[in-house]
Amino acid sequence: MEYFVKSGNPEKQRVACVIVGVFDRRSPTDAAETIDRVSDGAIATVMRRGDMDGKLGSTLVLHNVAGTFADRVMLVGLGKERNFDEAAFRKANAAAARALRQTGAIDAVSYLTHLPIKNRDFQWNVSQALLATEEVFYRFDECRGAKFREEIQPPKLERYTFDVPRRSDLPAGERGLAEALAMAKGVALAKDLGNLPGNLCTPTYLAERARQLAAQHSAIKTKILDKAEMEKLGMGALLSVAKGSSQPPKLIVMEYLKGPKNEKPVALVGKGLTFDAGGISIKPAAAMDEMKFDMCGGASVFGTLTAIAELKLPVNVVGIVAATENLINGEANKPGDIVTSMAGITIEILNTDAEGRLILCDALSYAEKEYEPSVCIDMATLTGACVVALGSVASGLFSNTPALARALLAAGEQSGDRAWELPLWPDYDENIKSEFADIANIATRGGNGGGAIIGATFLHRFTRKMKWAHLDIAGTAWTGKKASGRPVTLLVQYLLNMAAKKEQD
Ligand code: BES
Ligand code: MN
Ligand code: ZN
Repeated sequence: MEYFVKSGNPEKQRVACVIVGVFDRRSPTDAAETIDRVSDGAIATVMRRGDMDGKLGSTLVLHNVAGTFADRVMLVGLGKERNFDEAAFRKANAAAARALRQTGAIDAVSYLTHLPIKNRDFQWNVSQALLATEEVFYRFDECRGAKFREEIQPPKLERYTFDVPRRSDLPAGERGLAEALAMAKGVALAKDLGNLPGNLCTPTYLAERARQLAAQHSAIKTKILDKAEMEKLGMGALLSVAKGSSQPPKLIVMEYLKGPKNEKPVALVGKGLTFDAGGISIKPAAAMDEMKFDMCGGASVFGTLTAIAELKLPVNVVGIVAATENLINGEANKPGDIVTSMAGITIEILNTDAEGRLILCDALSYAEKEYEPSVCIDMATLTGACVVALGSVASGLFSNTPALARALLAAGEQSGDRAWELPLWPDYDENIKSEFADIANIATRGGNGGGAIIGATFLHRFTRKMKWAHLDIAGTAWTGKKASGRPVTLLVQYLLNMAAKKEQD
């Protein structure tokens, strides 16, 4: 599908479908009012008859509306006018996309992008409308058989135009379109990788996809560290997890260095656990299949790099994905085992299922040593406790740098890919003391609570020298059995804001 931004009158569009909003209490938007006027009250009539009450997310498709040049006019319910906020805007656009998918329309012009949202501009409107639409149109059919795939009907919609009120709004709309297209590409890649099952999406497969990314984008350079190289670096924590699996681990490094030469990069470090059975501290069978999503932090690194390469953003970013499985064999980690991390900190592994922090600590040390990043952000499906704390709405955010936390929270609000900050107070350091090693990989005191904070506290031991943030995406990286592509939009928005701020300075 191709997207466009235009500025024109709703009644004059020669397209298969024109989309206009109506608030509840039969109160039409300007575009709906225009159509109503030229059609001698076609919209007022259906509302009076009770076929469209303006409830948020409801839709009604009208055919051959008099006075217009369009085959169809779609009414989209917007709810109460005074409650119309960012979430409602996304819902209305998603509803329009779902209804559009049910029609035979090959092109459409939407006037939902005219709707004013407090503190937002037309760049935001177009961007969010496009992202909401792509969310609806995404499918994952890679694992279906040949027959099924042959019968898949591609969407009929080929051209989708978001209208803006004035010609002077076009540049803002175009910017929103370009940014959102790149974000959507990144999100789709993160979803594809996340949805792939563990037997196909192995560490070796991810490494191969990283090489492909470098082949597609000349700005991206890939370096893959294998087991021997990790041994040389002393990554005893990461390698201890990998030992329990026959799949060789990979440390995937992707460099995108298009910013000023002397500027230190932003490091994005992702947990790429391609399947987490828990190891000897094995997980219960119910929903264990979902542990194929334990590489979604890594997938978000792939997605973010794709998006910024598409946008040719003038920034320095290095993506690092620690990829391995957490399984069980005769060599697997055992509770009580003690390993030495790359940082030299020894770790007592009291629960082999707390493996994410074991692979991340070495990846974070590598980022610090190799790149001295200006900022380091890790993304990980780290703890079930984070799902308990925040559910699937917000990712958990931890940071040792308040300005970085603020920038990430703001990027989350702006993109709709939100995070919520949890504390990283030194009071929690006590909890990971070990009887025998420098630290333990789970809490040994302080009770069983605050699991997401304990995970972050562990990682913080390895990131003291960096401006660092940790996103626990355990509740947000997938919902139901589907990868969400989060937090790609948050990260891309953060980098866009960073690049824009630099331009001002
Ligand atoms: N990948 C899991 C975390 C997870 C669990 C994410 C459920 C999403 C849904 C992680 O490796 C893990 O197993 N964490 C343990 C840590 C515990 C042993 C301290 C957990 O959360 O139970
Ligand atoms: Mn685990
Ligand atoms: Zn895990």
